[in-house]
Amino acid sequence: MSDAGPAGAPARESLPPLPPPEVAPPGLTPQALALDLRTVDDAMAARLRELCYRWKLLVFKGQDLTDEEYIAFARKVGTPEPYFQDHYHHPDHPEIFVSSNVPMDGRKVGVAGTGRMWHADYSFFDRPLAFTCVFPKILPRVKRETYYVDMARVYRELPDALKKDIAGLTAFNDAWDYYKVQPWDIDRAVRELIDQWHREAPGASHPLVVRHPATGEDILYCSSGFTKRVEGVTAERGEALLRELFAFAEQPRFKHCQPWEEGDLFMWDNRTLIHHASSVPAGEQSRSYRISLYDELPFRAS
Ligand SMILES: [Fe+2]
Repeated sequence: MSDAGPAGAPARESLPPLPPPEVAPPGLTPQALALDLRTVDDAMAARLRELCYRWKLLVFKGQDLTDEEYIAFARKVGTPEPYFQDHYHHPDHPEIFVSSNVPMDGRKVGVAGTGRMWHADYSFFDRPLAFTCVFPKILPRVKRETYYVDMARVYRELPDALKKDIAGLTAFNDAWDYYKVQPWDIDRAVRELIDQWHREAPGASHPLVVRHPATGEDILYCSSGFTKRVEGVTAERGEALLRELFAFAEQPRFKHCQPWEEGDLFMWDNRTLIHHASSVPAGEQSRSYRISLYDELPFRAS
Protein backbone atom coordinates (compact mmCIF):
# COMPACT_ATOMS: atom_id res chain seq x y z
CA MET A 1 0.00 0.00 0.00
CA SER A 2 1.29 3.44 -0.83
CA ASP A 3 2.27 5.52 2.15
CA ALA A 4 1.46 8.74 0.39
CA GLY A 5 -1.84 10.13 -0.68
CA PRO A 6 -3.31 13.18 -2.24
CA ALA A 7 -2.69 16.43 -0.40
CA GLY A 8 -4.65 16.37 2.83
CA ALA A 9 -4.05 12.66 3.47
CA PRO A 10 -0.56 12.64 4.96
CA ALA A 11 1.83 9.75 4.71
CA ARG A 12 3.08 8.26 7.94
CA GLU A 13 6.53 6.88 7.63
CA SER A 14 8.49 7.15 4.45
CA LEU A 15 8.54 8.74 1.07
CA PRO A 16 6.36 7.33 -1.68
CA PRO A 17 7.96 5.53 -4.59
CA LEU A 18 8.92 7.64 -7.55
CA PRO A 19 6.70 7.14 -10.57
CA PRO A 20 8.44 5.21 -13.32
CA PRO A 21 10.43 7.74 -15.32
CA GLU A 22 9.10 6.46 -18.63
CA VAL A 23 5.56 7.33 -17.60
CA ALA A 24 4.68 10.97 -18.04
CA PRO A 25 2.92 12.25 -14.92
CA PRO A 26 -0.79 12.70 -15.55
CA GLY A 27 -0.62 16.28 -14.36
CA LEU A 28 -0.29 18.22 -11.17
CA THR A 29 -0.66 15.59 -8.46
CA PRO A 30 0.16 17.21 -5.13
CA GLN A 31 1.50 14.83 -2.54
CA ALA A 32 1.10 15.28 1.19
CA LEU A 33 4.01 13.99 3.23
CA ALA A 34 4.26 13.66 6.98
CA LEU A 35 8.01 13.94 7.15
CA ASP A 36 9.96 15.77 9.84
CA LEU A 37 11.98 18.15 7.69
CA ARG A 38 14.64 18.39 10.43
CA THR A 39 15.64 14.83 9.54
CA VAL A 40 16.29 15.41 5.83
CA ASP A 41 19.80 14.37 4.87
CA ASP A 42 21.52 14.66 1.49
CA ALA A 43 20.06 11.42 0.11
CA MET A 44 16.53 12.36 1.19
CA ALA A 45 16.98 15.84 -0.25
CA ALA A 46 17.91 14.35 -3.63
CA ARG A 47 14.81 12.16 -3.43
CA LEU A 48 12.63 15.14 -2.58
CA ARG A 49 13.96 17.06 -5.58
CA GLU A 50 13.07 14.13 -7.83
CA LEU A 51 9.62 13.85 -6.27
CA CYS A 52 9.03 17.53 -6.75
CA TYR A 53 10.08 17.45 -10.40
CA ARG A 54 7.62 14.62 -11.04
CA TRP A 55 4.68 15.38 -8.75
CA LYS A 56 5.15 19.18 -9.09
CA LEU A 57 3.80 20.12 -5.64
CA LEU A 58 4.75 18.64 -2.27
CA VAL A 59 2.87 19.50 0.93
CA PHE A 60 4.78 18.72 4.10
CA LYS A 61 2.21 18.39 6.87
CA GLY A 62 2.53 19.19 10.55
CA GLN A 63 5.73 21.25 10.37
CA ASP A 64 6.87 23.24 13.39
CA LEU A 65 10.27 24.49 12.27
CA THR A 66 12.23 27.40 13.63
CA ASP A 67 13.50 29.86 11.04
CA GLU A 68 16.96 28.30 11.32
CA GLU A 69 15.55 24.79 10.79
CA TYR A 70 13.57 25.96 7.76
CA ILE A 71 16.71 27.47 6.24
CA ALA A 72 18.72 24.33 7.04
CA PHE A 73 16.11 22.21 5.22
CA ALA A 74 16.17 24.59 2.24
CA ARG A 75 19.97 24.40 2.06
CA LYS A 76 19.78 20.61 1.92
CA VAL A 77 17.35 20.69 -0.98
CA GLY A 78 18.94 23.48 -3.00
CA THR A 79 20.69 26.81 -2.96
CA PRO A 80 18.57 29.59 -1.43
CA GLU A 81 18.46 32.80 -3.42
CA PRO A 82 17.70 35.98 -1.44
CA TYR A 83 15.13 38.11 -3.25
CA PHE A 84 16.72 40.90 -5.30
CA GLN A 85 14.86 43.61 -3.33
CA ASP A 86 16.01 43.49 0.25
CA HIS A 87 12.94 45.12 1.77
CA TYR A 88 11.26 41.72 1.32
CA HIS A 89 13.87 40.04 3.51
CA HIS A 90 13.30 38.73 6.99
CA PRO A 91 15.26 41.07 9.27
CA ASP A 92 17.53 38.26 10.50
CA HIS A 93 17.49 35.91 7.50
CA PRO A 94 17.86 37.38 3.99
CA GLU A 95 17.04 33.97 2.49
CA ILE A 96 13.48 34.35 3.74
CA PHE A 97 11.10 36.45 1.63
CA VAL A 98 8.36 37.73 3.90
CA SER A 99 4.83 38.16 2.61
CA SER A 100 3.01 39.78 5.51
CA ASN A 101 0.52 42.37 6.61
CA VAL A 102 1.43 41.86 10.28
CA PRO A 103 4.11 44.02 11.93
CA MET A 104 6.98 42.23 13.63
CA ASP A 105 8.15 43.80 16.91
CA GLY A 106 6.14 46.89 15.95
CA ARG A 107 7.85 47.25 12.56
CA LYS A 108 6.62 46.66 9.04
CA VAL A 109 8.40 43.60 7.70
CA GLY A 110 8.22 42.27 4.18
CA VAL A 111 5.45 43.20 1.79
CA ALA A 112 1.71 42.52 1.87
CA GLY A 113 -0.40 41.14 -0.93
CA THR A 114 2.34 39.47 -2.97
CA GLY A 115 1.86 37.19 -5.94
CA ARG A 116 -1.73 37.92 -6.88
CA MET A 117 -1.25 37.25 -10.55
CA TRP A 118 -0.34 34.17 -12.60
CA HIS A 119 3.42 33.91 -12.64
CA ALA A 120 6.50 31.78 -12.12
CA ASP A 121 8.99 33.15 -9.60
CA TYR A 122 11.94 34.95 -11.18
CA SER A 123 10.77 34.27 -14.74
CA PHE A 124 11.82 37.87 -15.41
CA PHE A 125 15.44 36.84 -14.83
CA ASP A 126 17.62 34.84 -17.21
CA ARG A 127 17.76 32.04 -14.67
CA PRO A 128 14.34 31.47 -13.10
CA LEU A 129 14.22 29.59 -9.80
CA ALA A 130 13.99 25.81 -9.63
CA PHE A 131 11.83 25.46 -6.53
CA THR A 132 9.73 27.69 -4.35
CA CYS A 133 9.05 26.82 -0.71
CA VAL A 134 6.34 28.62 1.24
CA PHE A 135 5.81 28.19 4.97
CA PRO A 136 2.70 29.98 6.26
CA LYS A 137 3.32 31.40 9.73
CA ILE A 138 0.11 33.32 10.42
CA LEU A 139 -2.99 32.07 8.67
CA PRO A 140 -6.07 34.22 8.19
CA ARG A 141 -9.16 32.93 10.00
CA VAL A 142 -10.86 32.67 6.65
CA LYS A 143 -9.49 30.41 3.96
CA ARG A 144 -6.16 31.03 2.36
CA GLU A 145 -4.99 29.12 -0.68
CA THR A 146 -2.64 29.11 -3.63
CA TYR A 147 -3.73 28.28 -7.16
CA TYR A 148 -1.52 26.38 -9.58
CA VAL A 149 -1.48 25.48 -13.25
CA ASP A 150 0.75 22.71 -14.60
CA MET A 151 2.15 24.24 -17.77
CA ALA A 152 3.53 20.89 -18.99
CA ARG A 153 -0.02 19.55 -19.06
CA VAL A 154 -1.17 22.76 -20.72
CA TYR A 155 1.44 22.31 -23.43
CA ARG A 156 0.48 18.65 -23.94
CA GLU A 157 -3.14 19.65 -24.45
CA LEU A 158 -2.48 22.76 -26.52
CA PRO A 159 -4.11 22.54 -29.98
CA ASP A 160 -1.62 21.44 -32.61
CA ALA A 161 -2.16 24.62 -34.62
CA LEU A 162 -1.20 26.76 -31.64
CA LYS A 163 1.83 24.56 -30.91
CA LYS A 164 2.91 25.15 -34.49
CA ASP A 165 2.33 28.90 -34.20
CA ILE A 166 4.62 29.26 -31.18
CA ALA A 167 7.32 26.80 -32.22
CA GLY A 168 10.72 28.50 -32.06
CA LEU A 169 9.36 31.77 -30.64
CA THR A 170 10.64 33.56 -27.57
CA ALA A 171 8.80 35.92 -25.26
CA PHE A 172 9.94 38.73 -23.00
CA ASN A 173 9.14 38.58 -19.29
CA ASP A 174 9.12 41.57 -16.98
CA ALA A 175 7.48 42.46 -13.66
CA TRP A 176 8.13 46.16 -13.04
CA ASP A 177 4.39 46.86 -13.13
CA TYR A 178 3.93 44.76 -9.98
CA TYR A 179 6.38 46.79 -7.94
CA LYS A 180 4.74 47.61 -4.62
CA VAL A 181 5.32 51.24 -3.74
CA GLN A 182 7.02 51.59 -0.36
CA PRO A 183 6.95 54.38 2.23
CA TRP A 184 10.35 55.67 1.10
CA ASP A 185 9.07 56.13 -2.49
CA ILE A 186 7.00 59.19 -1.61
CA ASP A 187 7.97 62.16 -3.82
CA ARG A 188 9.78 59.91 -6.33
CA ALA A 189 8.57 59.92 -9.92
CA VAL A 190 7.06 56.68 -11.20
CA ARG A 191 9.60 56.85 -14.06
CA GLU A 192 12.41 56.84 -11.52
CA LEU A 193 10.93 53.79 -9.76
CA ILE A 194 10.62 51.93 -13.07
CA ASP A 195 14.18 52.81 -14.06
CA GLN A 196 15.49 51.61 -10.71
CA TRP A 197 13.57 48.34 -11.08
CA HIS A 198 15.09 47.77 -14.51
CA ARG A 199 18.62 48.44 -13.30
CA GLU A 200 18.16 45.55 -10.88
CA ALA A 201 15.85 43.34 -12.97
CA PRO A 202 16.00 44.22 -16.68
CA GLY A 203 13.64 41.45 -17.75
CA ALA A 204 14.40 38.25 -19.65
CA SER A 205 13.61 36.46 -22.89
CA HIS A 206 12.72 32.78 -22.73
CA PRO A 207 11.44 30.35 -25.35
CA LEU A 208 7.68 29.90 -25.22
CA VAL A 209 8.35 26.17 -25.01
CA VAL A 210 11.10 24.99 -22.69
CA ARG A 211 12.14 21.44 -21.90
CA HIS A 212 12.47 20.50 -18.25
CA PRO A 213 16.06 19.42 -17.58
CA ALA A 214 15.04 16.65 -15.16
CA THR A 215 11.81 15.24 -16.59
CA GLY A 216 12.24 16.07 -20.27
CA GLU A 217 8.72 17.43 -20.34
CA ASP A 218 7.97 20.31 -22.68
CA ILE A 219 6.46 23.25 -20.81
CA LEU A 220 4.49 26.20 -22.14
CA TYR A 221 6.60 28.92 -20.56
CA CYS A 222 4.56 32.08 -20.12
CA SER A 223 2.21 33.69 -17.63
CA SER A 224 -0.33 36.47 -17.86
CA GLY A 225 1.41 38.21 -14.94
CA PHE A 226 4.92 38.45 -16.27
CA THR A 227 5.01 37.61 -20.01
CA LYS A 228 4.73 40.94 -21.80
CA ARG A 229 5.39 40.33 -25.48
CA VAL A 230 6.32 37.76 -28.08
CA GLU A 231 9.52 38.49 -29.95
CA GLY A 232 10.10 38.18 -33.67
CA VAL A 233 6.46 38.80 -34.69
CA THR A 234 4.42 41.97 -35.03
CA ALA A 235 3.03 43.48 -31.83
CA GLU A 236 -0.52 42.67 -32.97
CA ARG A 237 0.37 39.05 -33.73
CA GLY A 238 2.19 38.70 -30.42
CA GLU A 239 -0.71 40.13 -28.44
CA ALA A 240 -3.15 37.81 -30.18
CA LEU A 241 -0.94 34.79 -29.46
CA LEU A 242 -0.54 35.68 -25.78
CA ARG A 243 -4.28 36.27 -25.42
CA GLU A 244 -4.93 32.83 -26.86
CA LEU A 245 -2.27 31.13 -24.73
CA PHE A 246 -3.39 32.75 -21.47
CA ALA A 247 -7.07 31.99 -22.15
CA PHE A 248 -6.18 28.36 -22.82
CA ALA A 249 -3.88 27.95 -19.80
CA GLU A 250 -6.23 29.63 -17.35
CA GLN A 251 -9.23 27.41 -18.06
CA PRO A 252 -10.82 26.13 -14.83
CA ARG A 253 -9.97 22.53 -15.73
CA PHE A 254 -6.26 23.25 -15.42
CA LYS A 255 -6.43 25.13 -12.11
CA HIS A 256 -5.53 23.39 -8.89
CA CYS A 257 -6.55 25.09 -5.65
CA GLN A 258 -4.30 24.21 -2.71
CA PRO A 259 -5.69 25.27 0.69
CA TRP A 260 -3.32 26.24 3.48
CA GLU A 261 -3.57 24.43 6.78
CA GLU A 262 -1.73 25.06 10.02
CA GLY A 263 1.67 23.35 9.87
CA ASP A 264 1.80 23.06 6.07
CA LEU A 265 5.02 23.74 4.22
CA PHE A 266 4.77 23.79 0.43
CA MET A 267 7.46 23.07 -2.13
CA TRP A 268 6.82 23.23 -5.85
CA ASP A 269 8.57 22.95 -9.18
CA ASN A 270 8.80 26.56 -10.31
CA ARG A 271 9.80 25.60 -13.87
CA THR A 272 6.58 23.74 -14.54
CA LEU A 273 3.94 25.36 -12.35
CA ILE A 274 2.66 28.87 -12.55
CA HIS A 275 0.94 30.04 -9.39
CA HIS A 276 -1.37 32.74 -8.07
CA ALA A 277 -1.89 33.76 -4.45
CA SER A 278 -5.34 34.24 -3.00
CA SER A 279 -6.17 37.61 -1.49
CA VAL A 280 -6.43 38.27 2.24
CA PRO A 281 -9.74 39.88 3.25
CA ALA A 282 -9.55 43.26 4.97
CA GLY A 283 -8.94 42.92 8.69
CA GLU A 284 -7.38 39.46 8.39
CA GLN A 285 -3.74 38.79 9.24
CA SER A 286 -1.43 36.74 7.09
CA ARG A 287 2.29 36.07 7.14
CA SER A 288 4.23 33.51 5.15
CA TYR A 289 7.90 32.80 4.64
CA ARG A 290 9.11 31.92 1.17
CA ILE A 291 12.52 30.49 0.37
CA SER A 292 13.43 30.30 -3.28
CA LEU A 293 15.89 27.69 -4.45
CA TYR A 294 18.16 26.94 -7.33
CA ASP A 295 19.12 23.36 -8.09
CA GLU A 296 22.24 22.19 -9.93
CA LEU A 297 20.52 21.87 -13.29
CA PRO A 298 20.35 24.46 -16.05
CA PHE A 299 17.02 26.26 -16.26
CA ARG A 300 16.08 24.33 -19.38
CA ALA A 301 17.29 21.38 -21.39
CA SER A 302 16.44 23.11 -24.68
FE1 LIG B 1 5.33 33.73 -6.53
